[in-house]
Amino acid sequence: LGTAVEQAAEVPAATSGQLTPREVTILYGSQTGNAQGLAAKAGKTLEGRGFKVTVSSMNDFKPNNLKKVQNLLILVSTHGEGDPPDNALSFHEFLHGRRAPKLDDLRFSVLSLGDSSYEFFCQTGKEFDARLEELGGTRLFTRVDCDLDYDEQAAEWIEGVISGLSEGQETNNAAPESAAAPAAVESAYSRTNPFKAEVLENLNLNGRGSNKETRHLELSLEGSGLSFEPGDSLGIYPDNDPALVDQLLSEMKWDAAENVKVNKQGDVRPLREALLSHFEITTLTKPLLEQAAQLSANEQLSELTAPGNGEALKVYLNGRDLLDLLRDFGPWNASAQEFISILRKMPSRLYSIASSLSANPDEVHLTIGAVRYDSFWRERKGVCSIQCAERLQPGDTIPVYIQKNQNFKLPENPQTPIIMVGPGTGIAPFRAFMQEREETGASGKSWLFFGDQHFVTDFLYQTEWQKWLKEGVLTKMDVAFSRDTDEKVYVQHRMLEQSKELFAWLQDGAVLYICGDEKNMAHDVHNTLLEIIEKEGSMSREQAAEYLAGMQQNKRFQRDVY
Ligand code: 2AM
Repeated sequence: LGTAVEQAAEVPAATSGQLTPREVTILYGSQTGNAQGLAAKAGKTLEGRGFKVTVSSMNDFKPNNLKKVQNLLILVSTHGEGDPPDNALSFHEFLHGRRAPKLDDLRFSVLSLGDSSYEFFCQTGKEFDARLEELGGTRLFTRVDCDLDYDEQAAEWIEGVISGLSEGQETNNAAPESAAAPAAVESAYSRTNPFKAEVLENLNLNGRGSNKETRHLELSLEGSGLSFEPGDSLGIYPDNDPALVDQLLSEMKWDAAENVKVNKQGDVRPLREALLSHFEITTLTKPLLEQAAQLSANEQLSELTAPGNGEALKVYLNGRDLLDLLRDFGPWNASAQEFISILRKMPSRLYSIASSLSANPDEVHLTIGAVRYDSFWRERKGVCSIQCAERLQPGDTIPVYIQKNQNFKLPENPQTPIIMVGPGTGIAPFRAFMQEREETGASGKSWLFFGDQHFVTDFLYQTEWQKWLKEGVLTKMDVAFSRDTDEKVYVQHRMLEQSKELFAWLQDGAVLYICGDEKNMAHDVHNTLLEIIEKEGSMSREQAAEYLAGMQQNKRFQRDVY
């Protein structure tokens, strides 16, 4: 990294400005806020180098203005099965549609964010990159695809972009002072410098006999200077399960105390600690297996990672972890250090915050579902959720940071009605919404749809919701307990039962929020919404889809899904 950045940093050496500043448009598509944060950072860096910068979410950008843009930077994440983030949807569709303009004068570069454990790694970024070229644009710097640990690659991309922008330019009117300014200084604690928050409370919200375990965690932010708004998330850096780490050590006959390098700066830690806190050991990725193949003489592994065997590799990766890999493909002829250096850095986990700072100053509350399942004859445990469920005690500390989420916000107008759909742990941000609205005396109507398996054991925060309902902070509540009746009832069935009133709320300007499981729930709720709009608005399916897309564009339909 050092060399790339340093070399590039010399390129835009400032001279006195004679030309008008070169204009750069930065568009981001961001679901959880990472691409948005990077876009802001890139904007500040470029401004510091004398560029005139506009940063905007793709959603807020008027596509007709695209023809006027000379230099375009795209920062976009991918989620689910290769899908664009919600606030990239309309722009993505526009660009790939027949009305997309020719862009012969455009210079562009794409930074894509993704997770290499997913099949469609960085898919959306790849699509934008290919499409912009197809429309006639010229790359000013090659696309960079980042994995979960994106900081270094993103910094390299920004520097590469700057040298690309500077190429062929006779002058650059960057102010000499700001030319040397580094990227924006973040508040004391951030994703790269997390705060050690003390655990104040850690409870199981489910009753005895439930199939589920949902932890309610209260952490102290005292002294951190961190603040957040309802809708934001908390990032947590968890530790791996010590039992799993010990199994790895004994499987490989590694020395727990051996010092290994844990980062590019060369910091060292004892192997056991490195495996506990610094590296991911529970998820396998294609790049990891390809590198592991270099460390093993096992032909089966070389075969699995050979080109053309993608399908078999995909099957292998699914539901297995590092211990499986080590057991399946020995003998290994590599040192612990060599193994460590092919692992991904421990990724943080994001949880939607379940409290409001105005109601609980200096605290942050979370609602975390404990993840346990069997796969390939072993019990598997969610790294962070099980640390919370089984090991984290009041008084312990855990590294955290705030992840802003501009895509999931209470309406600015406190009178605007809101509809909240949040089954299971999807309830979390709505507890924050209600706390905030209660605390600030917001008068807008509110309607909650909640669902879970059983009324008796799984009605998360039941007494709080009932109190809010009684006091009128919450206007309406509909619940769906799926396993209390012969036939399953889900939140979307409750919505459909009340379609007339729900549509009336929408016509009244209500903002509709969905939080929770994406693959099944959010998808089905989406279809139900279309059905409701179609029926109550006497529209065709197409018109209903436009209505909902329009709501999304106006931030009246917001999703926080995972
Ligand atoms: P189930 O587990 O009985 O299928 C929170 O997990 C609640 O969401 C549970 O009641 C769960 O029901 C329900 N759920 C599961 N799939 C769903 C879907 N596709 N749409 C809405 N709710 C769903």
